[in-house]
Amino acid sequence: MAVLGLDVGTGGSRAVIVDEDGSVFATATEAHAAFDSPRTGWAEQHPGDWWRASQAAIRAVLAAGAAAPGDIRAVGLSGQMHGAVLLDAAGEVVRPALIWCDQRTDAQCRRLTDEVGAARLIELVANPALTGFTLPKLLWVRDEEPAHWERVRTVLLPKDYVRWRLTGERATDAADASGTLLFDVAGRRWSSALIGQVGIDAASLPAVHEGPALTGRLVRAGAEATGLAAGTPVVAGGGDQAAGAVGMGIVSPGAVSATIGTSGVVFAATDRPARDPRGRVHTFCHAVPGRWHVMGVTQGAGLSLRWLRATIGAGDGGPDAADDPYDRLCAEAAAAPPGADGVLWAPYLMGERTPHLDPEARAALVGLSAAHGRAHVIRAVLEGVAFSLRDSLTIFDEMGVPATRIRLGGGGARSPLWRQIQADAYGQPVDVLAAEEGAAYGAALLAGVGAGVWGSVDEACAAAVRVAGTVAPDPGATEALEQQYARFRTLYCALHPRAGA
Ligand code: XUL
Repeated sequence: MAVLGLDVGTGGSRAVIVDEDGSVFATATEAHAAFDSPRTGWAEQHPGDWWRASQAAIRAVLAAGAAAPGDIRAVGLSGQMHGAVLLDAAGEVVRPALIWCDQRTDAQCRRLTDEVGAARLIELVANPALTGFTLPKLLWVRDEEPAHWERVRTVLLPKDYVRWRLTGERATDAADASGTLLFDVAGRRWSSALIGQVGIDAASLPAVHEGPALTGRLVRAGAEATGLAAGTPVVAGGGDQAAGAVGMGIVSPGAVSATIGTSGVVFAATDRPARDPRGRVHTFCHAVPGRWHVMGVTQGAGLSLRWLRATIGAGDGGPDAADDPYDRLCAEAAAAPPGADGVLWAPYLMGERTPHLDPEARAALVGLSAAHGRAHVIRAVLEGVAFSLRDSLTIFDEMGVPATRIRLGGGGARSPLWRQIQADAYGQPVDVLAAEEGAAYGAALLAGVGAGVWGSVDEACAAAVRVAGTVAPDPGATEALEQQYARFRTLYCALHPRAGA
């Protein structure tokens, strides 16, 4: 027996086949065409390209020979969130999809906030109007491309376009629906109040299911395209953040992940829809039935280190130096003490989401003296990214969301120094996982729950997700970083005096 998870990401589609112990049999990834950016801040992809890449990834993972199509008990889907896929009455794509990082909808967000009210938006859909979310994109197409808008009969999220090609069903999951700004996150259903107020046709939206629920079965054309067996069940799955969290075992209250990729995400599972009245963190349904999550995003996490490497170089590190440039940078940083002798980095290279919600925020390196060198600067960057993730933990604390166990993910989990810095900056032990397989893996676990391989998502995670080790905070370093964090908290206001946050 096996289950298959598919993640329709931004850079590519990734398929993974998992057995009943949660072991990975095989994986395959097929790249997408780079997204188009016809104007600054615009980001578009072609749904047909996701479908092409998904077919190729599924065919390749089956060709690895680990499981025959008939062995696949169910398929689970995950994908980039917030995109707007627009189909006409014949099911043809009306225009390229506006994807999650598209920023063209500032005017629509302002108008939505004015017309609906900031507090009312949080009440109805648990989140503020942010440029990346789906509803502002729909309003943009309605405002700017009325001829296109007139043809729209179906609105889907990216992975659900692939679902539609596989099963013929228009369906999504509650986690992904939460990122549309059209979803009553507390009630786990479309917000008829907001949909009515903004004048979107409710009939154009897909049916919403819980993560492990069956949404349909592979139709013959979907089977022929992918090599899967016709009739294979397809479960709802989850948006990439929620599915990724399932894959890391972040499913019940108290469990938190801190993942450093290009951006950094701090994700906490909750048993209630915890809202931040200021909308600084996203409040979404989890891919686990009856649970929610909150999530803070820092835009320039791994990006900060990549920028530093490009700017000051990784150094040659001497004869014993590691091959990997990031390992060399971290080895150099270890020569500076915790707190970097007062040097601080504010990682706002791409503006900031949590906590400042300010696309105009800018990065800064402060506190330098002639006595500081490269090691201080590199350590300050690693620490500054950890502080910016800690800002999300601080907000969770204000909201009464517990963070009793933190699991690390992404590049920040691979570097021993960055792990230690995170334990010290968060002031609590952090766990490192034996394997991190991403959102496709979480989607496969959800498929397994749907197929009855595991009785619940909790059971699936207990069977499949293994902690390889724990890093304890160092008391002296924790104290030094606590003082640095207090200074870090003053940086944004000092640098952006009119921001007032
Ligand atoms: C979540 C988010 C990203 C996208 C792209 O809010 O913006 O995770 O889903 O991966």
